Amino acid sequence: MASPAAGGVVIVGSGLIGRSWAMLFASGGFKVKLYDIEQQQITNALENIRKEMKLLEQSGSLKGSLSAEQQLSLISGCGNLAEAVEGAMHIQECVPENLELKKKIFAQLDRIVDDRVILSSSSSCLLPSKLFTGLAHVKQCVVAHPVNPPYYVPLVELVPHPETAPATMDRTYALMKRIGQSPVRLLKEIDGFVLNRLQYAVISEAWRMMEEGIVSPNDLDLVMSDGLGMRYAFIGPLETMHLNAEGIVSYCDRYSDGMKRVLKTFGPVPEFSGATVEKVNQDICMKVPDDPEHLAARRKWRDDCLMKLAKLKHQVQPQ
Ligand code: NAI
Repeated sequence: MASPAAGGVVIVGSGLIGRSWAMLFASGGFKVKLYDIEQQQITNALENIRKEMKLLEQSGSLKGSLSAEQQLSLISGCGNLAEAVEGAMHIQECVPENLELKKKIFAQLDRIVDDRVILSSSSSCLLPSKLFTGLAHVKQCVVAHPVNPPYYVPLVELVPHPETAPATMDRTYALMKRIGQSPVRLLKEIDGFVLNRLQYAVISEAWRMMEEGIVSPNDLDLVMSDGLGMRYAFIGPLETMHLNAEGIVSYCDRYSDGMKRVLKTFGPVPEFSGATVEKVNQDICMKVPDDPEHLAARRKWRDDCLMKLAKLKHQVQPQ
């Protein structure tokens, strides 16, 4: 729980990700101000958060030690940016993924904030050196990239600008832990950060194998959901190596020749176009048609599964 002395958090942009952050910060006991350029978005966000929190409370899945009503009382809307950021200790930007728009917001914030507040962007793939260079408060800037849906998937990638102060990384890391998220620190920025680089490596090889007619799209997905993904929810690829032999050194001794042989057969970056797109689309749509109702229902099912998995992970985590 946040102490009453701790400053509040400001969310800039009250869309999908801004709402999730608001719920997470409130679950940690922090006061949250939601700002948006569209007043209606703030109203919608407050309504949507109320509904979500009540449902989570009913199903026993609400995070934190406060009741839904107590958490809701911590969240308010504010249509004036300068007023919203007054006394804040952390500002989480969640406007659409557009470099010029985000640069404009950070330039605006740079003019009105003090030397203590953290300026954090939720950007999925814009590099800190593109977002923050030239700002007077660059030392206080960081990307804190969440994973959708952030309420159930706790990872947050912290990506520094070359001039980000170590204290900014430390404070953001501590804040993320405090609200129950699972932060990781990138020691320097890289295009795609870590999560998307891993994800793209998987998608890329999946695509090449489908293009070569080795496996069907539905079977490809099963390899992950009923195979690799089962253990990746609990241990990563490096610990998998460690456990699948007598430690990492033994794994490299035993399997590095085989890994290198296979890796050398990986092809060029796929085009993600043409006949393969049609084939994948046809197969995946047989399982989940791509109209809004079916997609929404499947997302709801995915989020329910993730919520149950999050509970299981919490129960089985080693002390
Ligand atoms: P969204 O489109 O749902 O919400 C964006 C909000 O920003 C809207 O409410 C809009 O009115 C508001 N906005 C636009 N211009 C503004 C301005 N000048 N000042 C204040 N508010 C403004 O977008 P979403 O999906 O929430 O994404 C936000 C950020 O989070 C993006 O950078 C995205 O890349 C990142 N992200 C998104 C994920 C996702 O799965 N949707 C996952 C991880 C990160």
